[in-house]
Amino acid sequence: MADKGEYAILVIEDNPGDFALVEEFLLEQIEAPIISYAPNFNEAKNILSVKTNHFDIILLDLSLPDKTGIPLIQEIIEICLGRPVIVLTGYSDLTFGVKSLSLGISDYILKDDLTSLVLYKSIVYSIERRKIVLALETSEKRARSFAKQLNNILEEERSRIAREIHDEFGQQLSGLKMSLSALKRSTSVKSTMESLITAMVDDVDHSIQSLRRIANELRPVIIDKLGLLAAIEWLVSEFEKRTGITSRLYMDLNRSAIDKTLEINIFRICQEALTNITKHAKATMVNIRIENNNGVLSIKIIDNGVGIKPDILHNPLSMGLLNMKERANLIGAELNISSAPQQGTIIEFIVNINGEKNIDSRRSFSDQDRS
Ligand SMILES: Nc1ncnc2c1ncn2[C@@H]1O[C@H](COP(=O)(O)OP(=O)(O)OP(=O)(O)O)[C@@H](O)[C@H]1O
Ligand SMILES: [Mg+2]
Repeated sequence: MADKGEYAILVIEDNPGDFALVEEFLLEQIEAPIISYAPNFNEAKNILSVKTNHFDIILLDLSLPDKTGIPLIQEIIEICLGRPVIVLTGYSDLTFGVKSLSLGISDYILKDDLTSLVLYKSIVYSIERRKIVLALETSEKRARSFAKQLNNILEEERSRIAREIHDEFGQQLSGLKMSLSALKRSTSVKSTMESLITAMVDDVDHSIQSLRRIANELRPVIIDKLGLLAAIEWLVSEFEKRTGITSRLYMDLNRSAIDKTLEINIFRICQEALTNITKHAKATMVNIRIENNNGVLSIKIIDNGVGIKPDILHNPLSMGLLNMKERANLIGAELNISSAPQQGTIIEFIVNINGEKNIDSRRSFSDQDRS
């Protein structure tokens, strides 16, 4: 029984005999197909530009008078905007078939193998596959937007907690320290109490420093006040102080107005990479290179440590590496981690900050190249 579906089909075929055969096959399986016909590439292009979303499927002969082979596939794929394309061809070259599939066509059928059933199956599978791909893309978009929102909420929450720790407890402890100092100076305090009060002032000082450190780790004030570059400088110098690992920072970029979400995610990726070096790498040297190529930032963090074990590298289950990848995804960055045993690790990510206007064309740090 013929399929009653309303399939809009564009057949791009220069040979009238082949077109007649395809039409016959279509009519055998589909009750009322809506068939359009283009005898060459240019006409197909015109039809597709007017009726962009009209067709459910495109059947494409690979040797047209005005275009053939791979360039023909590439152009048709581009103008079809995701509609499934089935190639019908006389070439029996399998490598070519595989290559054309990798270019994005849905199926590749040899004209010698063509029957009405083969064609019908291919059409139905291609249309269904496209629906599944579209549904997957939509759900991936939703998941990504959800992850983005969660990430923003997390960062805002960290920022709020950091502010409260700093403003509330910080102020209270500073007040306490001042009171203790005043008490120490007061004439009525016995000298035996003085050393106790000095110890209390020291304790309060330590607490203030711990609070500052915790608040800064939650959300570095510097990133909000001075931006990404200053924050990375601070991060690297803190890392060097804390670990004693020789760290070279090279930044070749302008102080640009970068979107805050981008800045904080780039910072967090660098922060995790340096934390990992502290915890796992046993490195003696770290190189951080940040370069700007017309608004495309390339950030490399290179250590000379023990390297990440291949099984962990290819299948990370712990949060750090996964988070880095997720953050990179959120900001549309490409993140590559390469590592080999005893040969150190390179974390590289490339992110487009284009569209952000430069507010200062000078280099931001005079000693960018400390190498
Ligand atoms: N620079 C590095 N050098 C050597 N090994 C590394 C390096 N970075 C990561 N690793 C290895 O990769 C593993 C996974 O790193 P990841 O950051 O995901 O987890 P973690 O640091 O162990 O824990 P978490 O980040 O969740 O606190 C680490 O346990 C470590 O074995
Ligand atoms: Mg980690």
